[in-house]
Amino acid sequence: MDIKKINIAVDGTASSGKSSVMEVVAKKLDLHMIDTGLMYRAYTKLCLDNNVNFLNENEIIEQLKNFKCHYGENNSIFVNDKDFTSYVAQYDVAENIKYVASVSKVREKMVELQREMASDGGKIMVGRDITTVVLPDADLKIYFDCSAQARAKRRFLQNEKNNILPNDYEDILRQIVQRDEWDKKREVGALKIAKDAWFFDTSDLNFEQAVDAVVNKIENL
Ligand code: C5P
Repeated sequence: MDIKKINIAVDGTASSGKSSVMEVVAKKLDLHMIDTGLMYRAYTKLCLDNNVNFLNENEIIEQLKNFKCHYGENNSIFVNDKDFTSYVAQYDVAENIKYVASVSKVREKMVELQREMASDGGKIMVGRDITTVVLPDADLKIYFDCSAQARAKRRFLQNEKNNILPNDYEDILRQIVQRDEWDKKREVGALKIAKDAWFFDTSDLNFEQAVDAVVNKIENL
């Protein structure tokens, strides 16, 4: 199989390492990684900037007309040509993203944009509904998982490194557990394990071991 032309779909729980691991895998195999969570995060930031009432679905949908998004180098994300990358990890964004990610009309638009991006192959696309909705015919589907405690610890250390505040372990754990629940329960684009996905548990692996395992899997397709 020509690795340069394949598409790899990756889903998994919040902070399971899927984006950071797949970013390094993409570099090693000369593929292009697209982290679709950034689109939902950027959309939530746009809603916050425009004082959207998140309990009013119509107000969230209204923002579609203001949402022109593109990726830059190194998974940076731009909305209406403004760099939103530094906002996507904000507390308010994480708190409110569930309202955005459960709106069908928003998801439809995201799915359409994501399929366009993957149309010429050579992509590793990472998210929650990539293996099941966006690219169900991908050449390889991976489902990442990891214990909630290990994930909260990783996110805490990542925040510390990137000077993201507030940074409280218990609060991060609560957010992770809550986000998983929302992601798995919502009516559209819910996080599910596709029946032909490779279930990859990273709880007991360090970063390098996880990268090596995925590279090995892809090279043996
Ligand atoms: O992957 P990340 O944690 O950045 O995603 C943030 C949120 O965006 C997720 O909790 C999920 O609700 C939403 N999301 C989604 N579909 C995707 C990617 C992310 O609903 N394909």
